[in-house]
Amino acid sequence: MENVRSKIVSQIQHMVRHAVVRDRRFLDDEQLIRSEQLEVLEEIFNANVRDTEIRELSSHFAPVLRGDHPCHLAVWGKTGTGKTLTCLYFLNLLAEMCKGKDIQIRHEHLDLSTPRPCFRALNDLACLLGASRRVKKGISLEELMVRIEASLARYKGIFVLFVDECDHVRRDRDTFMTFLVRRLPQQIPSKLILVLTSNRLDWPDQLDPRVKSFLKINELIFKPYDAVDLQQILGIRADKALLPGILAAGVIEKIAGLASRDHGDARKAVALLAKSAYLAEKAGTSITMALVDQAVSELDQDRYLSLLRTAPRQLQAAMAAVIHATNGSDSTVGTGEAYDSYRSFCTRTDLPPLTGRAFGDLLNELDTYSLIRTRILSRGRYGRSRQITLDLPENVITRISETLDQNAGLPR
Ligand SMILES: Nc1ncnc2c1ncn2[C@@H]1O[C@H](COP(=O)(O)OP(=O)(O)OP(=O)(O)O)[C@@H](O)[C@H]1O
Ligand SMILES: [Mg+2]
Repeated sequence: MENVRSKIVSQIQHMVRHAVVRDRRFLDDEQLIRSEQLEVLEEIFNANVRDTEIRELSSHFAPVLRGDHPCHLAVWGKTGTGKTLTCLYFLNLLAEMCKGKDIQIRHEHLDLSTPRPCFRALNDLACLLGASRRVKKGISLEELMVRIEASLARYKGIFVLFVDECDHVRRDRDTFMTFLVRRLPQQIPSKLILVLTSNRLDWPDQLDPRVKSFLKINELIFKPYDAVDLQQILGIRADKALLPGILAAGVIEKIAGLASRDHGDARKAVALLAKSAYLAEKAGTSITMALVDQAVSELDQDRYLSLLRTAPRQLQAAMAAVIHATNGSDSTVGTGEAYDSYRSFCTRTDLPPLTGRAFGDLLNELDTYSLIRTRILSRGRYGRSRQITLDLPENVITRISETLDQNAGLPR
């Protein structure tokens, strides 16, 4: 008995002596509130990390301060390149500057980072403007639009609407964009400036041509962070989050190097630092190079699995279908084949199958999560077809497939 007690006591003392993390919130973006995120970012801007992008934003919006009306702005860049935070930071600053000059400006952030139908996107916008409560149904798209317009009927200043991840509107996307681009500006007295961000460079190609021709837009591209940027970002995070002296030499450089080589995504780089710190805590050591390697391989598996485990059943079924259709290899299949495989998966698991079009939406969603890769191929006069490839390491696919079958109640 005494033995167990002293073992626990000494383990806890060991953990306390070897604490690694000082403030966990700075390692987990989900736990940082916006103002703290912006605070972290401010230090980074002072270190000139998103200098080019900030300069471009400034020159785009400078006319506002002269009482002019700049056109809309499209911001492209891969995930984790700081689009959301940089734009929010900039717009807050712009609003402050305008206040000093007595220019009326208002900005709202419509965050579509999880995909949703047009109805919900409009409902969210109406909520931001105080024009509606969150509703599920019983109200038409038209009614929502009218309420949005009514809430802006008396505002004559500049209205910057930051539509974040605008390509995530799943159903009636054209209705949504037509409303923002053609109808809203005509119905309200204020000067509307849209800031549209997306991960996909090809996004405007999917727009209704009539909307596209109306959309006067400037483009700004966020490049992936390079190793030097990431070192600065991670360095500041490590200072805030970790206890001093806990990082082995070269760890930050290594994480920055790995992250810049693979994706240039600051979110993933911070996650890798967090995982390494967690492993170090568990092992009761400092954060070593070897732990970083271990963290890399654990993160790969965790990410995809936890994403799918909590995903809606239809999305899980679509993923299972692609794995079955490609035999879990990196071979390519067409949408038709994948859809057949999806229908048979649905039959086996008692899930009502969705239409081919809705299945296409699910594929898009899997693509945004990087679980699959889809590519449109032109087949000349036979039209266009979409090709699907699985783009994951084999061991990850096997585990995903097991998890999905298990979730769907299939025998092993
Ligand atoms: N310059 C930076 N300094 C510190 N942290 C940063 C910086 N840029 C990005 N990050 C971190 O990476 C995360 C992702 O940034 P952000 O949300 O702005 O990226 P994004 O380009 O909008 O990505 P997505 O396309 O996935 O929305 C942020 O939560 C932040 O913690
Ligand atoms: Mg974003």
